[in-house]
Amino acid sequence: MRDQWNSKLAFILAAIGSAVGLGNLWRFPYIAATNGGGAFIFPYLFAIITAGIPILILEYTLGKTYKAGAPGTFARINRKFEALGWFQVAISFLITVYYFAIVVWVLCYIGYSFTLSWGDDATTFFVSDVLQATSSADGTGGLNVQLLIPFFIVWAIVAIVMYRGINKGIDIACKVCLPILLLCTAVMVIRGITLPGAIDGLEYMFHPDWSAIAKTDVWVAAYGQVFFSLSIAFAIMISYASFLPKDEDVVNTAFLTACCNHGFEIFAGIAIFSILGYMANVQGVGVEEVAAGGIGLAFMVFPTAISSLPALNGLFGAVFFITLFTAGFTSLISIIQAVITGVQDKWEMSHTKAATAVMVPAFVVSFVFITRSGLDYLDYADYIANSFGIVLAGIVELVLIGWFFKPEKLREVANLTSNFSVGQWWTWCLKFVTIIVLGYTFIISMTGFIREGYGGYPLWIGIICIAFLILTAIVFTAMKGKPSFYQKPDDAPGYDD
Ligand code: PFF
Repeated sequence: MRDQWNSKLAFILAAIGSAVGLGNLWRFPYIAATNGGGAFIFPYLFAIITAGIPILILEYTLGKTYKAGAPGTFARINRKFEALGWFQVAISFLITVYYFAIVVWVLCYIGYSFTLSWGDDATTFFVSDVLQATSSADGTGGLNVQLLIPFFIVWAIVAIVMYRGINKGIDIACKVCLPILLLCTAVMVIRGITLPGAIDGLEYMFHPDWSAIAKTDVWVAAYGQVFFSLSIAFAIMISYASFLPKDEDVVNTAFLTACCNHGFEIFAGIAIFSILGYMANVQGVGVEEVAAGGIGLAFMVFPTAISSLPALNGLFGAVFFITLFTAGFTSLISIIQAVITGVQDKWEMSHTKAATAVMVPAFVVSFVFITRSGLDYLDYADYIANSFGIVLAGIVELVLIGWFFKPEKLREVANLTSNFSVGQWWTWCLKFVTIIVLGYTFIISMTGFIREGYGGYPLWIGIICIAFLILTAIVFTAMKGKPSFYQKPDDAPGYDD
């Protein structure tokens, strides 16, 4: 018997836990600020409505109807589609191993916060003391031994959650983490907006630059952020939805997930930019000089901002890193589950066996990212996963479902249990708009990559990541699964119907 969520709430919280991740905190605010500020809302809303919500509805419907993770779902639609599922699972595996390292750093920083260990040079502290980084990604530079203990701690927590399964593990983890996340973010917002200079930060983030709307880059950024932020096209949502009862209404859940995720993103943006505004004020510089995203924001800029607060710096630092930890953790477990579900379905394994089969290799590979060149590998792997992996997976998913399968059949299935009907717009969005934007994104980023590589790093790292994604898709598809893996439920639309 397939596992099933204890309640609809469990599924909703898990899906929100996956969607609300580091991307909301360190990616969205910076992308919005640098892509038109307040004017970014238009491309962004457009991307949410034409891609985010339609694809969420699609992935939820696929998961709950075909009752399998991404590989099983696509194989049950048509055996020739199976490779797409494994490609998505491979992306998830790749993201798992490097995202892990980030969660480990965040855990360390919860501890460092209390004593403000970064002193007055947070960048040097992060690069030289915490990561002990070497200057080149050509060699690993050896293991960074001081990260081993937090590394084992995070792995231990993850393993406990994953072995306990969706209800006793993931559900409980989300019910613990999400309220903490919300509370900590609220604390940051309140602290942030009551600081002098906050208004400059918010002005920087929200001030509309209407000319941005005419730029294709801004639209590409909006679509990219929506995909990453909603955890779509990398097997996660299909896997989570496969544990839903068939008669669950997924249309309203898709809207709810998107609203909570994007609402939280804006909320987090207020916290981040009001505090950056304050810091710029203290330093007497413009906000654009301190604005940053990603790892730079979390481990270099924000610690400096925390040190510059008027009071309770240590405590506030801990609040910030606990926010990152809880956000990252619930995303991390969702992505590991996506891989576990794929493997478990294909070989009809017990949950424990599948969890072991996935976590042991993930554990081994994740060591790469706590070597002294870990940051470079991470940066590159992240680039490949996002610019190549997710974009390609998204395009292929939409082409196969939109053009080689019957989206209208899936729409009927979704409407069967929905309290309001999804119109034909849904099919149009899937078949046209998103494919065009993603296709354009893919061509631009791949021509850039072929011409210049990425970030000055050795090309072989990128090639290994791409080869890993493609080979996993080929090899896992070629392996023989249990007959049940290919067997679609009777009431699910078939390819030849
Ligand atoms: N939606 C997540 C975020 O915004 O951070 C994306 C994600 C990343 C999900 C990494 C899962 C994950 F492991």
